[in-house]
This record gives sequence, C-alpha cells and structure tokens, in this order.
Amino acid sequence: MTPPVLEVRNLVTHFRSVERGKTIKAVDGVSLHLNAGEIVGLIGESGCGKSTLSRSIVGLATPNAGQIILDGTDLSTLKGGALRKARSAIQYVFQDPYSSLNNRQTIGEALEEALVIAGLPAARRSARIAELLDHVGLPAAIAPRYGRELSGGQRQRVAIARALAMNPRVLIADEPVSALDLSVRAQVMNLFFDLSRDLGVACLLVAHDLALVRQAASRNYVMYLGKIVEEGTSAQLYGDPRHPYSRALLASAPSPDPVAERARPRVPLTGEIPSPTNPPSGCRFRTRCPVVQEACAAILPPPVEVAPGHRAACLFVSAG
Ligand SMILES: Nc1ncnc2c1ncn2[C@@H]1O[C@H](COP(=O)(O)OP(=O)(O)OP(=O)(O)O)[C@@H](O)[C@H]1O
Ligand SMILES: [Mg+2]
Repeated sequence: MTPPVLEVRNLVTHFRSVERGKTIKAVDGVSLHLNAGEIVGLIGESGCGKSTLSRSIVGLATPNAGQIILDGTDLSTLKGGALRKARSAIQYVFQDPYSSLNNRQTIGEALEEALVIAGLPAARRSARIAELLDHVGLPAAIAPRYGRELSGGQRQRVAIARALAMNPRVLIADEPVSALDLSVRAQVMNLFFDLSRDLGVACLLVAHDLALVRQAASRNYVMYLGKIVEEGTSAQLYGDPRHPYSRALLASAPSPDPVAERARPRVPLTGEIPSPTNPPSGCRFRTRCPVVQEACAAILPPPVEVAPGHRAACLFVSAG
C-alpha cells in the first residue's frame, strides 16, 4: 500500500484561556492521515476543534505535542528553508474569500506573488497564471481584474488557484463554501473533487454542511470535543454510523436521498457541547449520549475497528 501523503499522530493543541488562566483543550490527541488524490471530510459541531486542528497542521497554530509527517518526513525534524519548503506543500484555503484576497491587487498580481514565492522564473509566470485559472474554472481574461470586482465564488476560486500556485501535496480547506451563496457551493465543492482527481492533491475538507461533505469526500473523520470519535469511508459512516455521536449528528442532518431521508432515524442531538476547559472524564460524549453506561465515565474508549478502515471510539461498539 502507498504510504499516506500526510499523517498526523497524537496531535495536541491547547490554549491558555486569558480570563481564567484555564487550559482550553481544543485538540487533544488527534491522529489522522490523508492519501494522495483523496478528499477527506472533517465534521463535528461548532467548537469541537476542527479549525484548531487544521491551523495546527498548516503551522498557523502551535501544537503542544504530536507529529505531522509529510511524505514520510516529520516536520519537527526540519528547520529554516527545508521547513518552509515542506510547509508550502500543505496549503490552507480560508473560509472567507472576502478577507483572504487583497482588494488592491489584480488577480494576476495575486497569483504572480504566489509564483514568485514558489520560485517560478519570470518568463514562465504568465502561462502558469493562465493554467492555474483554468484549473479553477476561471477564464484567463479575469487576470487584470481586481478582487473587489469578483463574486464570492470567483474569489474563492482565485484563493484556491493561489494555493495551487505552490504545487501543494495537501489542501486544507476550512469551511471553504460556508461564506458563499447556496447556488455556488456545490460548484466550488466540485472543484475540490476535480483537483484531487486531476492533480492528485489530498484535500481535507472541514465543513458543517454534512450533505456537501458527503457528496465530495470519500473518507471522513468525526470530531467531538478535541478528539476523533469515528472514521470511515462515506459509505461506512453514512450507511452504518457506529458511534452514538455520529449517529446523532447524522440524524440531525437531512439526507439528499429521499429514500435515506425517509429512513433517517430522528434521534436529535440534545444539549450543548461541554466546555473544552473541563471535558468530561472517560468518554467525552457521555454527558449527551443516549446509550451511556457507568463505565463511560471511567474509561476513555480506544478506537475499535469495526470493519477495515472503519473505527469508532465507543466502549459499546462491537467489531464486525
Ligand atoms: N486562539 C485561540 N485562543 C483561545 N481559544 C481558542 C483559540 N482558537 C480556538 N479556541 C477555542 O478552542 C475551541 C475549538 O475551537 P475551533 O475554532 O477549533 O472549533 P471549530 O470546530 O472550528 O468550530 P466552528 O465549527 O465554530 O468553526 C473552542 O472552545 C474555541 O473557543
Ligand atoms: Mg472552525
């Protein structure tokens, strides 16, 4: 089997709460991997640590512990230029295309700036700009226009083109369509699909909208209060969710398929996600879990493989 492009092992990112001096355990021991050409969804409620995890992987937040391994190299063993080069292979697409593009730059200038950083010789830049725009479904004629003249969907395409200018191995997109009109969301999601297929880029898609992730992602991680509680292919997760949290999360999201929608169990997710400064002992979901038992407070459930590649961290899932 080909090794993954990106592997994250036991990543921990804590923050110090300014007011109360408490520790916010935003990411608390997360392991995941991405294969080349694969789109992986990262889902979970607001505040569960998805952005902190994404930002830690791209170096915008500093992990307290854990390893980030790109193409077999642990990034913590690199320094200076080698670290910068490795980091440029992991690109981040921000949620808000309005703040991520400079309004005073033309699209061509924004892309050229990225190509300069990527070290592309001047003579090859204009052809590369046209190629990048083509990859994201924009005409080359858009290059002289300013960011402020574009729609949200077009701006997000430019932001993706700018990330592609660095020839990334991995794209991490944190809620890349949630600031866009409903009508263009699916188009931008399809773009990730095309890029992973055509360029072999591994994509981690962080999203609230389960219907969109479900369409785009082939594999998924479900996160709850700083930890991964379930992972599996889309067929495994959506067809046979095993963790009570995944079940509740999926049950609260409508399915695009009318048959599945009729069969969808209505077990709503009740209550608020607990504070990451003081997570419950044992299983973090136990305070909201409909099938909680006494042991759940004492034991942190390890991930159990229920089928190849399908793992759920619950004491009461059975293998097979
Ligand atoms: N820079 C920071 N300093 C202190 N606490 C932070 C910081 N960034 C995030 N947090 C806290 O860490 C926890 C996880 O936040 P994070 O933004 O990673 O969640 P999320 O899953 O991305 O949520 P959402 O779906 O709303 O974007 C939250 O309790 C948040 O308040
Ligand atoms: Mg977030």
